[in-house]
Amino acid sequence: MDINKILSPIKEELELFDQRLKENLNSDSLLISEVARHLVNRKGKRLRPTMVLLSYGACRDSEVNSASTPQVMNVALAIEFIHTATLLHDDVIDQSKVRRGQVSVNHKWNNLVSVLMGDFLLAKSLRSIVATQSQSLLSTISKATENLSIGEINEVQESHNFDLDEKTYLDIISAKTASLFTASCESGAVAAGAEENTRKQLKAYGQNLGMAFQITDDLLDWVGESEKTGKGLGNDLKEGKVTLPLICTLRESDPSSKRKILKLLKNDFNQKDFDAILLLIKGNGGVDYAFKKAKAFGDKALDHLSELGESKYKDALKDLVRFVIEREK
Ligand code: FPP
Ligand code: MG
Repeated sequence: MDINKILSPIKEELELFDQRLKENLNSDSLLISEVARHLVNRKGKRLRPTMVLLSYGACRDSEVNSASTPQVMNVALAIEFIHTATLLHDDVIDQSKVRRGQVSVNHKWNNLVSVLMGDFLLAKSLRSIVATQSQSLLSTISKATENLSIGEINEVQESHNFDLDEKTYLDIISAKTASLFTASCESGAVAAGAEENTRKQLKAYGQNLGMAFQITDDLLDWVGESEKTGKGLGNDLKEGKVTLPLICTLRESDPSSKRKILKLLKNDFNQKDFDAILLLIKGNGGVDYAFKKAKAFGDKALDHLSELGESKYKDALKDLVRFVIEREK
């Protein structure tokens, strides 16, 4: 699925978004400007602003155009700031060295700079939300921010728990990832003044898309290619993060394979053990299971678009589901 096709209905708005993002990151602090340059230098997928703008477009009768979108632009900025702040904090927690195909801020500078830049972006997001003057948007976005913090804490708490069950895993990713996807789509609907049911449908679309996204993300950590994902492979295992392919394998494998995997998991991370565990995961259907689960969430996301009127924005939201599941990065 070509991402440019998905972005085409909101091409101009995304250009304005990039411009506003850069303007917002200007600062008198030399260090902030330097780190900001590093961050905008390598663009991410901009999935969350895309979801905000497409959801907004799908709720309106007329075309989205840059002049009529100051509020939704502030929403898209606020959500991107929150997302980037979480990644800056997450890379410290995960001790990651690469992000989006370039050296991570914690690695290029240090943990302190990464955490403080995250705080700066969180403050910027508050200012963007305040500019919308909408209690409803403030409520939606702040709830999501609280949830993703809870999700991350729960994930840290469950690290190295090889008895982790699927439900707990799904609860964690729902909080740490799907919450901001949910808020992105719901906020787009709120900014467009959508009626209650449309808002609910887009919220549920975002929730299911977020689940599909994180399951795929976790799958790519096992079977992806580092040059494409722009992140190191096996990071989750290194951090003791137990994700769906492994959960399924530990649940379904015979006692002897299970003992073998648990023994390997207790070793310090090395490439040979990673390859051996991956072979067992593949052999026991863990990769297929996770892929099917991501697809099932994707199908649920699509179901929630059925009541929306036809538009190019709705078509792009549909394509986004395929992109999220089939992506290699
Ligand atoms: C990436 O997941 C991390 C998240 C989706 C959430 C991170 C949340 C926090 C650090 C806490 C809250 C922070 C703020 C600023 C409110 P991942 O590690 O699975 O993905 P990755 O492989 O891309 O690193
Ligand atoms: Mg991480």
